[in-house]
Amino acid sequence: MIVARTEADLKQAAGEIAGETGRRVAVCAADLRQPAGIEAAVGELKSAFGRLDILVNNAGATQGGDFLEQDDAVWEDGFALKFYGALRMSRALWPLLAEAHGAVVNISGGFAHTPDHNFMIGGAVNAALTNFSKALANRGLIDDVNVNAIHPGPVTTERYEEILTTQAKLAGIGREEMRERSLMTSGVRRFARPDEVAGLVAFLVSPAGRHIHGTSQVIDGGGAKSL
Ligand SMILES: NC(=O)c1ccc[n+]([C@@H]2O[C@H](COP(=O)([O-])OP(=O)(O)OC[C@H]3O[C@@H](n4cnc5c(N)ncnc54)[C@H](OP(=O)(O)O)[C@@H]3O)[C@@H](O)[C@H]2O)c1
Repeated sequence: MIVARTEADLKQAAGEIAGETGRRVAVCAADLRQPAGIEAAVGELKSAFGRLDILVNNAGATQGGDFLEQDDAVWEDGFALKFYGALRMSRALWPLLAEAHGAVVNISGGFAHTPDHNFMIGGAVNAALTNFSKALANRGLIDDVNVNAIHPGPVTTERYEEILTTQAKLAGIGREEMRERSLMTSGVRRFARPDEVAGLVAFLVSPAGRHIHGTSQVIDGGGAKSL
């Protein structure tokens, strides 16, 4: 089952996944920043499948920008989706995950360990989510649920295009120039494709990945220069 706010996008994605895999794909249009959205998604999952093996907390949309121009509402919005969304989904679905001896993967991000003054909300949210993931993994030792976090570097999604636009605006240059600069300063050969992150998720939740537990996996093409 896939969840996001835009029903038309969900239906299109579900059609493509079902076409490629032959599996039944349910959709739920819900705003995961709101407790009511979490309830709707959990309710839909229970009625559509009645069980849960794998939870991937991926929805996140923290805003970059100048710290002095970001008020409480912008910070709260970032935490509401990516931190509280993941926390509430994990808590509501934990009994089903425990029953299935399942797995959780939280998509965090490289800014969790490389703070940036123009991406403070994303960094703080990712750091909080990473700490939460490790604590949840410790709980998972009791209930036999695997939990890991993934820290992608830049991935060529719609969101990354928005981040580039913000960075370009702050630097006073065009978006393509910003893309080149970003590639050069990070020193990576290229940015990641979404399917590369998905491949790592798929491995972590597979039987072959079962002994990888409570970790933070970096997938950034070598962009982070720290250990
Ligand atoms: N792209 C990168 O470079 C990068 C790097 C590091 C980490 N990440 C992390 O990876 C995750 C996915 O990022 P992405 O680049 O794929 O983002 P994206 O292109 O913006 O996609 C985000 C997805 O989340 C959904 N979403 C957004 N707000 C939502 C809400 N309030 N309730 C429910 N669903 C919502 C969106 O659909 P709707 O708009 O229809 O709701 C969309 O399907 C995020 O947590 C992001 O922080 C991304």
